[in-house]
Parts: sequence; C-alpha cells; structure tokens
Amino acid sequence: MSGVLERMKSRRSIRRFKPDTVPDEYLDKIVEAGLYAASAKGQQNTIIFKVTNKELRDKISRLNCEIGGWNEGFDPFYGAPAMLIVLARKDWPQRVYDGSLVMGNMMLAAHELGLGSCWIHRAREEFEMDWGKHLLAALGIKDPYEGIGHCAIGYIEGEYPEAAPRKADRVFSDADLSVKDFESMEYAAKGANLVGSYVFQGGETGYFTMNAYGEGDAIAEIEYIAPEGAEELILPDGAKGWRLKDGVEIDLRKHMMTRRLGNNIEPALKHPDLSGLMPIAYEVLEGSMELEEEWSFLDEFQ
Ligand SMILES: Cc1cc2nc3c(=O)[nH]c(=O)nc-3n(C[C@H](O)[C@H](O)[C@H](O)COP(=O)(O)O)c2cc1C
Repeated sequence: MSGVLERMKSRRSIRRFKPDTVPDEYLDKIVEAGLYAASAKGQQNTIIFKVTNKELRDKISRLNCEIGGWNEGFDPFYGAPAMLIVLARKDWPQRVYDGSLVMGNMMLAAHELGLGSCWIHRAREEFEMDWGKHLLAALGIKDPYEGIGHCAIGYIEGEYPEAAPRKADRVFSDADLSVKDFESMEYAAKGANLVGSYVFQGGETGYFTMNAYGEGDAIAEIEYIAPEGAEELILPDGAKGWRLKDGVEIDLRKHMMTRRLGNNIEPALKHPDLSGLMPIAYEVLEGSMELEEEWSFLDEFQ
C-alpha cells in the first residue's frame, strides 16, 4: 500500500493532546497541503487562519464551548496548542465542499507528520458573531467569509484511537445492476411515474405519488392501453403521449390520474379540455393495484 493510502486509513481524530508547541515549519507544511486541495472551478475561494497564540486559542475555545452549550471550563479543542481555521467566501456556492477538502488535506498532512488532528466544528457560528467579523477585519479581510472548520493540531497524548468498523452496504457497483431492469425503470420514470389523484367515494379528490414500477414502493407495473381511436405518440422530450380521437394531444405524465374505487386504484385520463376523469384500460404486468395497509394513509388526504 502506498504511503498516502496507508495514511488515509490510519488517520484518526485525536482528542487528547500534549501542550507542547508544534513547530511552525510543520504547521506551514500542513497549511500548504490545505492550499493545494482541489477547489471547484479552481477558484481557491478558501482561506486558512493559523492560531498558535495561547490567549487567542483559549478565547476561541471558550466561544466554541459556549456555542456548543457545554459547561464552562470544557475545552472543545482537547488541549491542542494550535488550530488552523478554514473559511470560505460566503458568496461562493461551493464553499462547504471546498473548505471540507482543505480540512481533509490538512488532517492527512498532520498525520503524515506524526501529529494528531481533529476537525472541530462551529466555526460558522464563530464567524457569524461580531467577534469573528472584527477578527477578519483586523486581518484586513474585507469580503464576507464563512467559517468551515477548525483543524486542531498537536502532539498526541495517550493511546492512538482505533477506527470504528466501517458500516456495511455503503458501496455499490454497476456490476450488481441489471441494466435491463434499470432501463425499464427509467422508461417507467419517464413515461409513467405519476403524481396521481384519486376520487374518494364521497367525491373528494386525494393526491399521491405512484411509482408504476420500482421495487419496494411499487404498487404495480402497468401497461396503459390507449383509448379506442387514439394514436400513440412520443413527445419531443421523449415522454409517452397519445393523440386522442378528437385530435387532442395528451402527455401521460400530466394527464394520467388515478381514481380510487373501493380498495382499488384505477388509472383514469384527465382530458385537458373536458372536466371529469375518463376511465382507461390498463394491464397490470406485475404487482397489484389493490391498496395495501400502508396505503391507508391516503385517506388522510381528504
Ligand atoms: C464535519 C465534521 C465535524 C466534526 N466536528 C467535530 C467536533 O466538533 N468535535 C470533535 O471532537 N470531533 C469532530 N469531528 C470528528 C468526528 O467526530 C470524527 O471524524 C469521527 O468520529 C470519526 O473518527 P475518525 O476521524 O477517527 O475516523 C468532526 C468531523 C467532521 C467531518
């Protein structure tokens, strides 16, 4: 395994630090790793504020503790003597992604140098306070910046933490995908994934979404049968439609409704020019159009 891959696996968040000062050259290397992080559109809209002054570091710790709602005296930085605060331009939509990547690079760099690090949150709140705004102004930073995170850094005290086991089922592969099923689902999503409405027996209308096909929440895979005299169309955006006998073109996504008849949901067509729903013929290919227990919430839509 290469050095980088190994470091990625063995880096841990450190929550006990020695008070020993971290040499500036180490911090500069860590900062450099942060500056070289990828950034959206290569805009480098992040900045890093290095804090090693104990008085300032303690002040930030007190603010952070207050924001976090802990008892006075708790140090959310776990005694780390240094912190690198990442901020990103407030007007930059990718600020959180960019800032997080800077944080990730810096935590890895610290690990590579044999130092401990931990992402400490609540930087956003700190820099939303007048305190943070004044601090930026005092640094000569005029544009608004949002706090992304503090990278607490120091020498590790005590035992090195073990990684939590990785959660299962977090990786998916196209090798597990049946392209045929996927394509038919996609087709259904285009042509027949409907926001449905239905008519209660009392005449009220209810609404729900219905996946005509799709494991789990499907009620049924349905083939709609065009009304007599209707011509099947593929609309310009690829959706399925029909040209009715009277020449009116309908988009199945927009005009296909459903109505409830007893325990059954039945497709119906809303003619754009006529009021009321027209029943249409359909064939259930898979599943059922009968309402199950879990669909009883539909009744709450009255
Ligand atoms: C966005 C973010 C915010 C975090 N904030 C804190 C924090 O405020 N305090 C803290 O002790 N750890 C914080 N952490 C560290 C996580 O708790 C830590 O990464 C997680 O427990 C996994 O442990 P590991 O980093 O050793 O793999 C934060 C991590 C991330 C990514």
